[in-house]
Amino acid sequence: MHHFHYSGSSLHCESVDLAGVAKLYGTPTYVYSAATMADNYSRLQRGLAGLDAQPCYAMKANSNIAILRHFANLGAGFDLVSGGEIRRVLAAGAHVKTSVFAGVGKTEAEIKLALENGIFSFHVESEPELARINHVAGKLGVKAPIAIRVNPDVDAHTHAKITTGKSDNKFGIPLKHAAAAYEAAAKYPHLQIKGVQMHIGSQLTSVAPFVEAVEKVGPFAAELKAKYGITYFSIGGGMGIIYKDALASGQQAWWDAQPADQRPLTPETYGAALVPRLKPLGLKILLEHGRFMVGNSGVLVARVEHLKRGAGKNFLVVDAAMNDLVRPAMYDSYHEIVPLHRDSSRRALVADIVGPICESGDCFAKDRQLQELGEGELLAFMSAGAYGYTMASRYNTRGMAAEVLVNGGKFELINTRETFEQMIAGEKVPAFLK
Ligand SMILES: Cc1ncc(COP(=O)(O)O)c(C=O)c1O
Repeated sequence: MHHFHYSGSSLHCESVDLAGVAKLYGTPTYVYSAATMADNYSRLQRGLAGLDAQPCYAMKANSNIAILRHFANLGAGFDLVSGGEIRRVLAAGAHVKTSVFAGVGKTEAEIKLALENGIFSFHVESEPELARINHVAGKLGVKAPIAIRVNPDVDAHTHAKITTGKSDNKFGIPLKHAAAAYEAAAKYPHLQIKGVQMHIGSQLTSVAPFVEAVEKVGPFAAELKAKYGITYFSIGGGMGIIYKDALASGQQAWWDAQPADQRPLTPETYGAALVPRLKPLGLKILLEHGRFMVGNSGVLVARVEHLKRGAGKNFLVVDAAMNDLVRPAMYDSYHEIVPLHRDSSRRALVADIVGPICESGDCFAKDRQLQELGEGELLAFMSAGAYGYTMASRYNTRGMAAEVLVNGGKFELINTRETFEQMIAGEKVPAFLK
């Protein structure tokens, strides 16, 4: 469920007309719905009722400081993966005491920053990292709280580039070696064993792999509780969202019409399967969902540059490109594309929807059917709230897009469009070329 819908013929985010936002701030612009994020957060909490559960929003999905502040206000901690992300939390006026620090290559400077700011726990990915965290904590004269990320070797049945819980992925320590890694951790004087963590992948559309992973790692978590007194089990993130019927899935009627055996994964199904398996452990449960929290909460609004009619193929050239939203080029991912002004009297158009970048991969959709659109008209890429802006780049010297947050009938710019001067501010011609 989300808060993007047509009111009359105009696409709205909550009660804001998206065409008005585009008029004010230009395109391409990401627009986010604060109400959708709050709904997602509370649905996840309700789904896991009965557990002592703490959502740690995986901010790699969308790390704008306004979004972080919104989640902090809702009670979230954060799943962090870099010193930059720690500093974003601080810049948002939130704190890192309920946050966890993951990632396969934490530097000494990042570990120090996390410890100085009272990180809840490090999620350790390897034996050498245990030694490094112990070393930094020793220099600071503190004990570093840690959990080891175990790799349960479960197939998440998702895209290869976002599968993380198989034994051939770079993440975590295989379950069969994890007991030895905990024994090693227990010998370090500046480490405090606090929990255990796993994360099997992203955009999972069925609950079965989550169940399999919890059933594999749960007994190990119980052993760790008995042996080291661990207090928490982080079960990672990964809950998938609807990309294909993104707009329709904002309405309850769409959910009601799905055949029972084909219903997409919801926080309710997720909770119903996992709560009975997790509750007997008597541990605090951390959740690291990113995509689920923000994915359906954002759209990328773009403008049509031209309709180029080719030999047997049409191309709708828009002013957004793979640098703004890289998911289709990187993961062959699908985003529903809808006009901001809906007009059922128009003819249908079948076209490739492409950006202006000099790469054949700069293509958002192939042979997509939508209403005929012409130069200057606006469209929206649905479900673009996660891994959209955070994965964007300046390729082709295109500045970063603007970002806007909507709340009811109000909206505000939360990130200005990057200017050319900002883009080249750190660059200079060296003396030997002058
Ligand atoms: C350790 C960890 N936790 C959480 C996440 C968030 O995943 P998602 O956005 O699919 O919920 C990721 C994503 O890569 C991750 O690596």
